[in-house]
Amino acid sequence: MQTDSSFTFVLFGGTGDLSMRKILPALYEAHRAGMLAASGKIVAVARHEEDRDGYLRWVNEHVKAHVAKSGVDENAWTSFIARIEYVKLDLGNAEDFVKLRDALQDLPGTRVFYLATGPSLFVPICRALASVGLNEHARIVLEKPLGYDLRSSNAINDAVGEIFAEEQIYRIDHYLGKEPVQNLLALRFGNALFEPLWRREWVESIQITIAEELGVEARGDFYDNTGALRDMVQNHLLQLLSIVAMEPPHSMDSDSVRDEKLRVLRALKPIDPRDISKVAVRGQYHAGVIRGTSVPAYATEPGVKTDSATETFVALKVEIENWRWAGVPFFLRTGKRLADRVAEIVVNFRAVPHSALGASALRAGANRLVIRLQPNETIRLYCLAKKPGEGMNLSSVHLDLAFDQFFKEGQMEAYQRLLLDVINGRLALFVRRDEQEAAWKWVEPILNEWAASGKPKPYAAGTWGPAAASAMLAQHDTCWLEEEN
Ligand code: BG6
Repeated sequence: MQTDSSFTFVLFGGTGDLSMRKILPALYEAHRAGMLAASGKIVAVARHEEDRDGYLRWVNEHVKAHVAKSGVDENAWTSFIARIEYVKLDLGNAEDFVKLRDALQDLPGTRVFYLATGPSLFVPICRALASVGLNEHARIVLEKPLGYDLRSSNAINDAVGEIFAEEQIYRIDHYLGKEPVQNLLALRFGNALFEPLWRREWVESIQITIAEELGVEARGDFYDNTGALRDMVQNHLLQLLSIVAMEPPHSMDSDSVRDEKLRVLRALKPIDPRDISKVAVRGQYHAGVIRGTSVPAYATEPGVKTDSATETFVALKVEIENWRWAGVPFFLRTGKRLADRVAEIVVNFRAVPHSALGASALRAGANRLVIRLQPNETIRLYCLAKKPGEGMNLSSVHLDLAFDQFFKEGQMEAYQRLLLDVINGRLALFVRRDEQEAAWKWVEPILNEWAASGKPKPYAAGTWGPAAASAMLAQHDTCWLEEEN
């Protein structure tokens, strides 16, 4: 669907890693699919001494390789790069912002400023934009991490908020743009089937895992000052949790959805610092083997301090204090250099209260819904069925919805969807300030406690993290999904 919304998309950090891997490839895909207004322009901004031709050479060299599996359509590529302009800009030089304003003057449509830069530049860039009047009638997109803790994120939000109104601010959490996350909303609120069961009376526990095989790659320095709690839990995992647990919104407009997510975030049971060791596990990977390849320890990665106490793994038990979820444990887990790359949500329903069919009807492994976000997006419902043959022996079977088989085309990468939403002014999949604050407030006691004492538990790369993460679930008579198989 082509949009009528003409736009000028101004990309700060235009030569950075994120622009190269995600943003420009996503814009290309949207262009190739005919989803961008023909007159829309992309203006890359960076401090490199470059002219337009030089920048386009860089794009050809670095961006093409990251364009979708389907490969590059040369005609589409040529018309895509025809949209791109380049402006060299030194942030410290006020004159350069005047030049930027002049360069944008005759370009069409809604202005989007995408800050694919470090968070320390957000405020200076916004102020400089305002100084030349470029904050008027514009949208600003902020990449995570937005701050380091509640105080620093408030400082950024306050300063940006003086320049842009909340409805002009698009805080990206790319997990919200993933197709299966959207589908979770469709599953929950489009089918009467699940809603009555989606509560404490029928749900025993919920697991949300984002596991990565990758390590910290070239980001050792950034990651060592960040850690998994800030990098993944405060944003992606708590956002997923809020979508799993939210009440049905009154409509899909942006504030209805975000109000409901906020209610969940505000209902998270505060963590008592004295209980942290019971409900939170942190780990750090040591050398190990992933799919036959040896990988080094975190502490020896470039940019990481050799005595680093930064966590590369987190597992948490979270509770939600409301009528729907009181007493149901939500287990969240994320880590780098784990045994597999998988992101999934597992809803464990309760077993039947009495089994007329024998003990096998009470076994774990059935009555379960698994929403696989990546790879191989699937929704899988496990039930019990009778094994063929004599007697009444039950076995766990599953019903599958594999999205790529059912919907042969039209799948969109998260960034593509989110960038189209920004261009078209749809805020629902972006994090509102109050949500972000509530998430920081909730993680802060853990951040403080971990900063003050102890070290992460070691785990070998290529495993599922420290044993303590399994022990935490064992206390609730359950285990992580992969431990059952
Ligand atoms: C980012 C984190 O937000 O998400 C990275 O900063 C992480 O550390 C990435 O690797 C994971 O995203 P995805 O979409 O590859 O699961």
